[in-house]
Amino acid sequence: MTDSGGVQDKLSSLLSEALSEITSADDANVLQLLKSKYAGRKGLIASLLKELPGLAPDNRGAVGEAINNAKEAIEAALESRSAALAADRAKASLAKERLDVTLPGRFIQPGRLHPITQVMNEVEDIFLGLGFDIAEGPQVELDRYNFASLNIPKNHPARDMQDTFYFSDDLLLRTHTSPVQIRVMESVKPPIRAIAPGAVFRRDSDITHTPMFHQLEGFMVDTNISFANLKSVLMDFLRQLFGEVGIRIRPSFFPFVEPGAEVDITCVICSGNGCRVCKETGWLEILGCGMIHPNVFKAVNYDPEEYTGFAFGLGIERIAMLKYGIDDIRLFYENDLRFLRQF
Ligand code: DAH
Repeated sequence: MTDSGGVQDKLSSLLSEALSEITSADDANVLQLLKSKYAGRKGLIASLLKELPGLAPDNRGAVGEAINNAKEAIEAALESRSAALAADRAKASLAKERLDVTLPGRFIQPGRLHPITQVMNEVEDIFLGLGFDIAEGPQVELDRYNFASLNIPKNHPARDMQDTFYFSDDLLLRTHTSPVQIRVMESVKPPIRAIAPGAVFRRDSDITHTPMFHQLEGFMVDTNISFANLKSVLMDFLRQLFGEVGIRIRPSFFPFVEPGAEVDITCVICSGNGCRVCKETGWLEILGCGMIHPNVFKAVNYDPEEYTGFAFGLGIERIAMLKYGIDDIRLFYENDLRFLRQF
């Protein structure tokens, strides 16, 4: 017959050993092993239970109950240790993934339109509002369109005025947007009301000239177009662009118009009082214009007795410089973000 005291002793040393191993276990796999070592079907508790039948019948109940209590205590300890380990793991991963929402973000610099594009868009929008269509022509142009059809024959001094980039005798980089007039008139019949914005090229470089710059050509052709129409369109345009400025029209010469004129506005820098920008005159030259020359109409097979029209051309960089008070045209093309971000 087994001694019940011996079983009790084994039980209490097994219990204290189990509890100490469980509390010092530091990962879930170790706990799993301890669970089968003590509380498993073939564990140490199970083998103690096998000793019950050898005890005196009177003792079996008390010893059995003690063994069951011990088993429950071990299972509870396993469970609470496992919960504690899980909590530790969660805490550790939270600490590792900590996100400080008060840190300043990384600023992404947004792109924006170049100031020349902005001014071009603004000028186009004004003319679209006045009922003009937008026309385009090539930057690599034929002599015929850039000069000959615009009443600028070979050896005409006007060709010197516009120092030209030539590819060959007939092929060049257009020096102005006026050739688009010819291309449009060749392809449609009046009435025409169009603008032609775009890049133009001249062999020129200083604080008011770059080899590439932008112009906008405008023209209107119909049976009864007069200088009064030209004047009203230009006044409307200039007042939308610059506000209530004074406007002055001076006679001038361009081979493709007759009469030709230049338009000045009161200086936007000094309001007409005289300053460095307007060379103390109080006026700024802003565009060239005139009534389309009969020779230009003949070049596109329009009857100059039937049709009249006006044309004008302006420089976009010049307008941008006046609008924003910029004194060196080259700033537009140096790609210096400190400059470009101001617009
Ligand atoms: N094409 C001229 C230039 O580049 C500008 C110009 C002047 C255009 C008078 C016109 C005009 O249409 O009528 O300097």
